[in-house]
Amino acid sequence: MRVFKTKKELKRHISALLSQKNKIGFVPTMGALHKGHLSLVDMSKKENDFTIVSIFVNPTQFDKKEDLEKYPRTITQDLSLLEQINCDAVFLPSVEEIYDQDVSSQAFDFDGLENEMEGKFRDGHFDGVGTIVKAFFEIVTPTNAYFGEKDFQQLQIIKKMVEKAQLDVQVVGCPIFREANGLAMSSRNERLTVAQRNEGSMIYETLKSVNKKIASHSLSDIQNWVTSEFEKHPLFELEYFVVADEATLKEVKNISPGKSHRAFIAVYADSIRLIDNLSLNN
Ligand code: PAJ
Repeated sequence: MRVFKTKKELKRHISALLSQKNKIGFVPTMGALHKGHLSLVDMSKKENDFTIVSIFVNPTQFDKKEDLEKYPRTITQDLSLLEQINCDAVFLPSVEEIYDQDVSSQAFDFDGLENEMEGKFRDGHFDGVGTIVKAFFEIVTPTNAYFGEKDFQQLQIIKKMVEKAQLDVQVVGCPIFREANGLAMSSRNERLTVAQRNEGSMIYETLKSVNKKIASHSLSDIQNWVTSEFEKHPLFELEYFVVADEATLKEVKNISPGKSHRAFIAVYADSIRLIDNLSLNN
């Protein structure tokens, strides 16, 4: 597995690959890798000739300095996990390597996608994500880029950015990889207590119950039911529960036929914030 620390080295390698008409798959990450990340790498390996993973804790997408400082950094373990699954290359740049004179934090218009859900709670977050992903796309020039549905809003925002800037890359959404009990995998799960981690299954169970109730209950009844489930729960506090149109991410009050809807949830376990979502169409 090749490890590149500078844009120059990586670009040189990529132009050699492209001259042989190779398909390049790209998986951007912030490290602290778990099986959810690795499932994206597996998908990329199946669909491309060469897979590049970036590991970069992007400062511009953190609205709180403390979160950036506390973000887990497990680089030795990350490299060994990627090596084990035969990833071809890792891009491991420093902050200075990325944020030079060519790249500064940019303000994006994602047609309002950035103002819903996570956008209401994380100031400037999606401008930071857009800035870094666009910069990476320019360096890596991937054929396909892989993003998890775990961060469904991020996935839709990246698709919007690619469409608006007419970038020549296919954005591929990958299913949420879950722990055995259904809790969506996240590097934050490591910080949960054993009880919180076990009970974390109720977040996914709640979403699955919503999917069952949707045919026979109004969305306002469902909203009340979810709120009461969390009010009763001693370990979790609900931040938001939203049923939204998948394309606009705007909250809906009724399910309209012919549109795709998804339920989104954000929950606190003490100071640890967990998010999950489920398509309501199956
Ligand atoms: P990070 O949180 O490291 O996630 C990297 C990718 O892994 C994202 O596309 C995320 O949706 C996906 N992912 C995380 N947990 C997953 C799970 N349980 N199942 C499936 N996919 C999962 O998201 C970011 O980093 C950053 O915002 C980034 C896009 C790298 C830009 O800095």
